Amino acid sequence: RFTCMKLLVTGGAGFIGSNFVHYVIANTSHHVTVLDKLTYAGNLESLKGLPSERFRFVKGDIADAALVDELVAEADAVVHYAAESHNDNSLHDPRPFLDTNIIGTYTLIEAARRHGTRFHHISTDEVYGDLELDDPARFTEQTPYNPSSPYSSTKAGSDLLVRAWVRSFGLQATISNCSNNYGPYQHVEKFIPRQITNVIDGVRPKLYGKGENVRDWIHANDHSSAVLTILDKGEIGETYLIGADGEQNNKDVVELILEEMGQPRDAYDHVVDRPGHDLRYAIDSTKLRNELGWKPEYSDFEAGLAATIAWYRENEGWWRPQKAATEAKYKEQGQ
Ligand code: NAD
Ligand code: DAU
Repeated sequence: RFTCMKLLVTGGAGFIGSNFVHYVIANTSHHVTVLDKLTYAGNLESLKGLPSERFRFVKGDIADAALVDELVAEADAVVHYAAESHNDNSLHDPRPFLDTNIIGTYTLIEAARRHGTRFHHISTDEVYGDLELDDPARFTEQTPYNPSSPYSSTKAGSDLLVRAWVRSFGLQATISNCSNNYGPYQHVEKFIPRQITNVIDGVRPKLYGKGENVRDWIHANDHSSAVLTILDKGEIGETYLIGADGEQNNKDVVELILEEMGQPRDAYDHVVDRPGHDLRYAIDSTKLRNELGWKPEYSDFEAGLAATIAWYRENEGWWRPQKAATEAKYKEQGQ
């Protein structure tokens, strides 16, 4: 379906980037170069086993203008995943979020405009702020930006840079804003892997506040297929929302994890809430479905969650090295 391209994938050693790289190698004939700084969130183990004739890894910072220029010059398209991605971290130390999400994105789009390179910017539904629990509305491409956290405000800033570069400089860019992803290779700091690995360790899951907050879950493979669709058929200058109708409140997700792992459904603790905690995210992905013909494959959240639990059980060697330090950091914060 796709012509063969040389893709530069930033952040390809992270959760969603590594899932995308595996998906691209399995489903297209593209060549992939990953540029990744290997922060605490990057893991080369997530890219193991890829064919060397179609895959190359470069360690480096997206804010390194000379390196970025060289790599963008060689690429047919850039898919930009690299970011500081965790809200809780952004509340304790916002600076890296500005450096990577704002300056890093600026550095990439400057190179892409110099070389006339196709650019796809990966972003989040969090740029729209949150919805009330009883509001029937969902986010659309027309929803005004209203980010709540240092993380989401830097992602919003990076989206606006890309939009301005399209308008002012003719950057050949598209943007996607996706809801919460789950699946293999997600860092144990994030909600679902944290609770699964806690249960494996005999520790009770930790629910922030009352656990009523709603997230709209999508499997990482469905995010990947949507991004490939946009790269293939998306219109330059357009934004596409990506979502799979997967709304669940956090309490229900914890209970599902406990049940699937053979524990009593109430064997969890409530801990201190996240400051400024967004209540609900919900995506209306009609534009992507109707205009580009995309649809998700993983419609059964419980089945996807069970497969994810199985992956963490079978891949303890992948997550174990991060677990103790991650929990020590949460403990300091009372979470
Ligand atoms: P992640 O934290 O798992 O991975 C981020 C990757 O970027 C890591 O490999 C890290 O080493 C790399 N990186 C960080 N700073 C870098 C820098 N300065 N230079 C080069 N590499 C750097 O993140 P994720 O959850 O996979 O998210 C990836 C992207 O998808 C982000 O842009 C995020 O905003 C977006 N997104 C995430 C979700 C989600 O549910 N996780 C949902 C929608 C959008
Ligand atoms: O919506 C997309 C966003 O989803 C992405 O842009 C972010 O990069 C990604 O991290 C994610 O943000 P969230 O803040 O929604 O994800 P997180 O996994 O941190 O938390 C999910 C929900 O679970 C949130 O309501 C907070 C809650 N939570 C989280 C942790 C880590 C808990 O109740 N307990 C926990 O231990």
